[in-house]
Amino acid sequence: TTVEWEAESYDMGGHDTYMHKEIVEQVDAVDRVLRGRIDDRFATVRLGGLNLDAREARSMRRVKILGCGSAYHAGQIGAQMIEELARIPADAEPASEFRYRNPVVDPDTLYIAVSQSGETYDTLAAVQELKRKGARVLGVVNVVGSAIARETDGGVYVHAGPEVCVVSTKCFTNTAVAFALLALHLGRIRDLSVADGKRIIEGLRKLPGQIAEIMELEDHIATLAKEFADAKSMMFVGRVRGYPVAREASLKLKEISYIHAEAYPASELKHGPLALIEPATPTVAIVPRDDLLEKNRATLEEIKARSGRILAVAHEPQEKADDTIVVPRNEPELDPVLMGIPLQLLAYHTALALGRDIDKPRNLAKSVTVE
Ligand code: G6P
Repeated sequence: TTVEWEAESYDMGGHDTYMHKEIVEQVDAVDRVLRGRIDDRFATVRLGGLNLDAREARSMRRVKILGCGSAYHAGQIGAQMIEELARIPADAEPASEFRYRNPVVDPDTLYIAVSQSGETYDTLAAVQELKRKGARVLGVVNVVGSAIARETDGGVYVHAGPEVCVVSTKCFTNTAVAFALLALHLGRIRDLSVADGKRIIEGLRKLPGQIAEIMELEDHIATLAKEFADAKSMMFVGRVRGYPVAREASLKLKEISYIHAEAYPASELKHGPLALIEPATPTVAIVPRDDLLEKNRATLEEIKARSGRILAVAHEPQEKADDTIVVPRNEPELDPVLMGIPLQLLAYHTALALGRDIDKPRNLAKSVTVE
């Protein structure tokens, strides 16, 4: 029965917190979002509930993604994936900002609402306003049959399973993967080649195993976290694909450890935040081995010159960093999916070292259903 199923899924399963359980569950969760959706014959994916035909997919001229909190950050990753793989101009915006600024609602734009719960008031209100104005709105939602899932024209379910901890982990990761599927699908209807489609599919298939490899790094990350527990403030930097990862990592850390944290595009450091860099303000830098590697290495040097402590998340040890968390390599477009995961563990172990109430941080709610 439903009751039994719920009792089982809400069990902590031997973990001390739901957050830890949900971080570890990502290996299976990512497997679930992929299951039954890959279509090798056409090097694409099938998204049964999307409700967007090929002609519509070809004719849209923009994509606007709306959400709050971690859902908004996952939407930023999604916007980059759609722009990169489908070559459709795309961006993400906090749902509340969007609805309060009397936005131009354009018939050639596809709107996408992102939400774990499917009940967040600001996101739901943005959907309702868009629908009232005749826009096409899809949902990328975790909870099946939730308000946002019902009010949108179609969409992609994230299939992360129940998420209990107030802060989002497995749902964030699965949402990023769901966007990779959507981007691949739109790309293959537009100009993404069969070869690139196959390349992304291979990358998607590698994700669960690579997430399992990241889980092996937990002891190393826990040791690093003990050092960060003394920080007054922390800086998170990344470029392009690394930037939403930095933003989500910064949000996660401040939510559960209460350490002040800021995220910046690496290139913006010199326009202000560099003034804050000193030994008591460590920096976490996202440094994938992609075409921005040299730029990111230059950033590490700038920080080092101000005697700032650096933790890099990279594909190989970074000479200028004090420590590096080395994550497995995948296709560059999928880097944000993997690079965020060790930083969930970093936030978790920092909060643990500080004795925080990790599953229920002060002042926060899992689902904000009021304005
Ligand atoms: C709250 C939670 C966040 C979450 C946000 C959006 O602020 O504390 O973790 O990201 O709501 O929630 P949603 O259910 O719409 O994804």
